[in-house]
Amino acid sequence: MSSSHRYSHVPGWRNPDEHDSDHPSIETRQQVAFLRTVPLLKDVDEDIIWRLAHDAQDEVFAEGTAVLHEGDDTLDKRFYIVREGAADVLQTPEGSDELRVVASLVEGDWFGEVGLLANAPRNATIRAASMCPLRVISFDATTFQGLIAEHVLIFRVVRSQRNAASRSTSSDAIEVRELGLFSDLPIRDLAEVLRDAEQHWYRPGDAIITQGEIGDRFYVLLDGHVLIERDGEVLAELGTGDFFGETALLFDCTRTATVRATVDTLTWSLSRGTFERIVRHYMLGSAHMRDTIASRIRNAAA
Ligand code: CMP
Repeated sequence: MSSSHRYSHVPGWRNPDEHDSDHPSIETRQQVAFLRTVPLLKDVDEDIIWRLAHDAQDEVFAEGTAVLHEGDDTLDKRFYIVREGAADVLQTPEGSDELRVVASLVEGDWFGEVGLLANAPRNATIRAASMCPLRVISFDATTFQGLIAEHVLIFRVVRSQRNAASRSTSSDAIEVRELGLFSDLPIRDLAEVLRDAEQHWYRPGDAIITQGEIGDRFYVLLDGHVLIERDGEVLAELGTGDFFGETALLFDCTRTATVRATVDTLTWSLSRGTFERIVRHYMLGSAHMRDTIASRIRNAAA
């Protein structure tokens, strides 16, 4: 199959290499070969990989120089993938004015998605590591929103599972959009949820929430199984994709039940602020969710 056939059906796009020859340039082919190795893009169609290769901008940053800065809020934000070398991720901890290294990025890692997804200032500085230059490829906002964003959103969960590889979990990655609660959220709201979400693993027997305590977080069960216990009695069980912890936040009361993991369990929890701003509205807008919440409260009042 000639290369032009591969991507000829991408709407509105013409392979620029077609003008010059029947074959793509060496640079484009090298870019394609690299993009195929990027874990984030593993489910991306071949046509799209070629289009990304065409749109990619290659840049090299000398040792110790910054690609972007915490707080930057330019209109022309880009999304980046590390092609060679390593980068440090630096943030200013609350109450301090000194940047600290919080993570490192290596070949195939990506950055810059938060600022683009949420249209927010950059939440970290990314700097070429001190021992070698950093080569990145970057994409503009249009390419990111159209071709990459959905993979970033899905990957957030997959990545968290891989990091916890030592745990025994189901191998199926759950996609954010499969979580009923988030299936209809506009991408910008979803991005804000993802920005705020804290992932946490619990061991079998751990109480994630304790009855009677004051609660300020809302939980989504990404993987695992929990029991809902009130006064030592099991009321219900919840599994992957379910949510809990809404009652204390919606009704400003203490936790109405204890939520206990029965197996290794992965949750996302959201702060009260994000719950109030985004989730509450969607929950109360869904007849199905309102029924679920109402039956839980009826149960609590019994
Ligand atoms: P909250 O009271 O904040 O913390 C405990 C959570 O357990 C509660 O919110 C609900 O999310 C959940 N819960 C309480 N009762 C039930 C029930 N009968 N079935 C399923 N979940 C429940």
